[in-house]
Amino acid sequence: MQLHEARVVLTGASGGIGMEIASALCAAGARVLAVARHQESLLPLLVRYPQNLHWVAADLTLSFDRHKVLAAVEAIGGINLLINAAGVNHFAMLEQLDDSDINAMLAVNVSAPICMTKLLLPQLKQADSAMVVNVGSTYGSIGYPGYASYCATKFALRGFSEALRRELADTRVSVLYVAPRATRTSMNSAAAQALNDALKANVDDPKTVASAVLHAIAGDHRDLYLGWPERFFVRLNSLLPNLVDRGLRKQLPLIRRLSHKPENEQKP
Ligand SMILES: NC(=O)c1ccc[n+]([C@@H]2O[C@H](COP(=O)([O-])OP(=O)(O)OC[C@H]3O[C@@H](n4cnc5c(N)ncnc54)[C@H](OP(=O)(O)O)[C@@H]3O)[C@@H](O)[C@H]2O)c1
Repeated sequence: MQLHEARVVLTGASGGIGMEIASALCAAGARVLAVARHQESLLPLLVRYPQNLHWVAADLTLSFDRHKVLAAVEAIGGINLLINAAGVNHFAMLEQLDDSDINAMLAVNVSAPICMTKLLLPQLKQADSAMVVNVGSTYGSIGYPGYASYCATKFALRGFSEALRRELADTRVSVLYVAPRATRTSMNSAAAQALNDALKANVDDPKTVASAVLHAIAGDHRDLYLGWPERFFVRLNSLLPNLVDRGLRKQLPLIRRLSHKPENEQKP
């Protein structure tokens, strides 16, 4: 896809990764409908790219708000790119989570992108060539302790992306699944950051993720797994899960300890 010809709905546009994608798309000449509940973090970009960027206020868990996005798409005469980047995450052992946290992850990370895609598919199909981009995670391929519900949502999003790609194989709409590894945004709580620090995990800058996503869109790729050795572990987990079980078993005391630490005792 030619980025300067992209007419985009971008969810999660006010977040760490979404905002960098919005910025890079606008710099490339694309027109972007930035979907999020909050506008504040987008204000500098809205001022910088008044022709390219427009904010649509929407809570993606609400059908009424998703239809507001559709109305905005119709008002600009259609789109050829939908990027589902909104997401929520809670690092905690399953028993520590409230049902409301679990349901929020399922609603924002799974139901919302599926329903948003369904709603906008007729618009995407009208374009000469179009793409749906679903932002998953390394945790969409590796089940990780402390992230059981989040992993469930990202595994679901990966399955949805694969099935949808096959369902749309005889149309002009393609599907790109993106799996970032840990990325420096406010999605990661102090506890999650403390775990990444303790494990010396690689943490990407959101700009790096955005630039890789744009490259994958421009190259019409089908999936994008960010980072080494994370790509290797994804492959290893699918071939030799018992080996990964043993490795993660050793991390379990640390994961359990950090997930239980009160927020005010954790590093920022
Ligand atoms: N950060 C990481 O380490 C990491 C790693 C792998 C994958 N990812 C994935 O990358 C994507 C972006 O993550 P991020 O790190 O940029 O997260 P972030 O900074 O926390 O941003 C989350 C975004 O989701 C939006 N959102 C949350 N609930 C919403 C709702 N009910 N309705 C509409 N929008 C909602 C937020 O917008 P409002 O609050 O303004 O509505 C915000 O724009 C997510 O899908 C995440 O799972 C992140």
